[in-house]
Amino acid sequence: MEPSLETSIGQIQLDRPVMLASGILGISLDVFKRLYLSGAGAVVTKSLSIEPWEGYPNPTILSVKGGGWINAVGLSNPGAPNFAKMIEPNKDVPIIVSLVGSIPEDFEMMIKQFEHCQVTAYELNLSCPHVAKVGLEVGDDPELVKKIVTAVKNSTNVPVIAKVGLGTSNYLNTVGTAIDSGIDAITAINTVRAMAIDAEIQRPILSNRYGGLSGTPIKPIALRCVYEISSKYDIPIIGCGGISTWEDAIEFFLAGASAIQLGSAIGDNWITVFHEINKGILQYMKRKDYSNIQEMVGLAKRS
Ligand SMILES: Cc1cc2nc3c(=O)[nH]c(=O)nc-3n(C[C@H](O)[C@H](O)[C@H](O)COP(=O)(O)O)c2cc1C
Repeated sequence: MEPSLETSIGQIQLDRPVMLASGILGISLDVFKRLYLSGAGAVVTKSLSIEPWEGYPNPTILSVKGGGWINAVGLSNPGAPNFAKMIEPNKDVPIIVSLVGSIPEDFEMMIKQFEHCQVTAYELNLSCPHVAKVGLEVGDDPELVKKIVTAVKNSTNVPVIAKVGLGTSNYLNTVGTAIDSGIDAITAINTVRAMAIDAEIQRPILSNRYGGLSGTPIKPIALRCVYEISSKYDIPIIGCGGISTWEDAIEFFLAGASAIQLGSAIGDNWITVFHEINKGILQYMKRKDYSNIQEMVGLAKRS
């Protein structure tokens, strides 16, 4: 029998396990449709705030010698109300709406905006490493994580995912707090706080000084986090960080992820990358005689 690419992340059912990560191409319904048709199982939107945010002045992104990117875009986005209007006509594409805010009320207000939209899940950005008072600064504060997750879970029946990253506190505690507060799944990880300095000008290159490292250099770190979370907690996990090939995808499944997200890899080749990874996963499953993704999830944890 032909293996199936279908996967479930708790209550979230997807036809294919590879999604678009937040912040990458994530602002237009047309682009979402094209990504879905080219093999993405779901798309995660740019993180949305209550009001539109302009983001930081240039330079906001640079490539790293040897691979990867450092970005400090500053969460520029059109704001949740405008974005909700834009995706309201959507009926076909599984859309995961990423939200960013500082207090529970921010998230509650944004969720109201999406009442008339078909939303597959919400992903709470508790991990952006380069904007003050949101993202990682929230993720690093367990009391705030508890209040936000509890408030969001009380305001919607749609599944809620927490996206975690590496901040100043132990991210595993953030995961534990989110689980205790009722979160449905975890995405791990966001970009890793980093910087670049220009030797001639003798100053940081990014206007914000600090940014987040993404792409192949963070893959082993992300893989370690997925393995650690799945070893410690019983929670569905979405792996993210440096994934660019089907082999990477399989490694994340084996570490404990039920689905994965692609960010930086989209920059190289967004037209065929989903299809290529799906094809490679299917061939691997045939070779190893697996009929579904769940059979592989967490296998690397066997002693
Ligand atoms: C330009 C850029 C913008 C991003 N914007 C967001 C964002 O708005 N929200 C978020 O949760 N993650 C954001 N991310 C992080 C990605 O979703 C992803 O977690 C990270 O890049 C690691 O995956 P990758 O190595 O496949 O890129 C952004 C990443 C990049 C490179």
